[in-house]
Amino acid sequence: MTEAGTLKLDVLAALCKRRGFIFPNSEIYGGINGFWDYGPLGSELKRNIREAWWQDVVRRRDDVVGIDTAIIMHPKVWEASGHVAGFADPMVDCKSCKKRYRADNLCEDQGQELVRTDTGFVLPAGISCPACGSKDLTEPRAFNLMFESNTGPVKDDSSRVYLRPETAQGIFVQFDNVLATARQKIPFGIAQVGKAFRNEINPRNYTFRSREFEQMELEFFIKPGTDTEWHKYWVEERLKWYTSIGLPSSSLHLDVHPKEKLAHYASACTDVMYDFPFGRQELEGIAARGCFDLTQHAKFSGKPLNYFDQETNENFVPHVIEPSAGVDRIALALLCNAYREEWVPKGKDDSGSAGAILAEPGKPVPEAHEPRTVMRFHPRVAPVKVAVFPLLKNKPELVAKARGIFEDLRTDWSCFWDVTGAIGRRYRRQDEAGTPYCVTVDFDTLSADTVTVRDRDSMKQERIAVSELHDLMRERLR
Ligand code: GAP
Repeated sequence: MTEAGTLKLDVLAALCKRRGFIFPNSEIYGGINGFWDYGPLGSELKRNIREAWWQDVVRRRDDVVGIDTAIIMHPKVWEASGHVAGFADPMVDCKSCKKRYRADNLCEDQGQELVRTDTGFVLPAGISCPACGSKDLTEPRAFNLMFESNTGPVKDDSSRVYLRPETAQGIFVQFDNVLATARQKIPFGIAQVGKAFRNEINPRNYTFRSREFEQMELEFFIKPGTDTEWHKYWVEERLKWYTSIGLPSSSLHLDVHPKEKLAHYASACTDVMYDFPFGRQELEGIAARGCFDLTQHAKFSGKPLNYFDQETNENFVPHVIEPSAGVDRIALALLCNAYREEWVPKGKDDSGSAGAILAEPGKPVPEAHEPRTVMRFHPRVAPVKVAVFPLLKNKPELVAKARGIFEDLRTDWSCFWDVTGAIGRRYRRQDEAGTPYCVTVDFDTLSADTVTVRDRDSMKQERIAVSELHDLMRERLR
């Protein structure tokens, strides 16, 4: 079976590499742990995720505006936010083989929970090194996840800066400037999409935990006391959004953090979780952070970050609800969800999926069937929306007609042009890319001005007038 629960990550990674979704970073030099590159299809997929988020969180709302802040900020930002002192994971070393682990993950993998004390962390008894089996491990100690660099020509403590570990702080420190220019009143939000960097101790599960990744964060500023209702609102909104990009509700879950596990300033935190092949894991966290961040930046900068409500004459530090999502994790969830291996009736590409069976790994392909791998992306995120093929590449009139149709469609959608190989092979290539529709131009196109439109999932083909094609695609790809 190839449903998400049994999909093997190495099988997915092989497809992603073969088809140009994801490549290991700097692969010709042997790669570098925790860093990934997105190929032609992967970069379109990520772009579609960002666009869908920006459309729904910023453009279609009256009460959210966007911002784009620099990755490197004044180092005091990270003192104020608490990252310099506290943005750390517990790390342990195996004294025997010298391998290094994140202590909480190590305990979880062995069915235990890391013990938290007032002064730090203690390993539960019996935890062993997964590499060599030794139980001779160091006690956990804090490892700060921020990458450091220096600005200017002198490399010393005075020039130290950090690569941002989250995009959120850029929003908080520009709160006053946005407020002065965006003509917004509370409640309103500021959104940002951008790179974040964390020197994770153990990057793992393919791209799931990387050292460079992308966040989509919203800081939604509210009147103190309205935290509970706005938190609930955003949890519901965000959960709905995931289904709008094609993740099924049955694979999505909410993890409500118990009060005792919340940061001292937070009143609630709920994570949106997805059933990955390696278990149920976080896609997004939605936190009610009180007025912690604005208060800290006001204190460290000496500039008040208040809001004056002209209707009620109240002056207050706004509270904030923060939905914070990761683009790369969403891309990975979409890839896992889309992947299917099927057995389809041989040589009958227009027989429709009634004849397709979900493949069972290890079992022989049934007689008169052949395997097909298909990425069933929701049209909203599919990297290529439509592929256009002239039936034969050596018939100039077919090629010219098809090219005209292709040029017309590409004004609105990301399209793919393919002239080589048998039509069945071209369909298979688009199935692996996850292209929802293929349009074939044949001799009937020249005489009757119609094309065949082939549906990726049902594999059914229908004949459509060229004059209706654009409208049909608009309707189906909406
Ligand atoms: N400003 C709040 C914040 O950064 P977070 O839970 O640390 O909260 C938010 O991160 C989201 O960023 C996560 O839900 C996840 O999607 C993504 N993320 C965090 N660390 C990541 C990593 N190492 N690799 C990939 N994505 C990551």
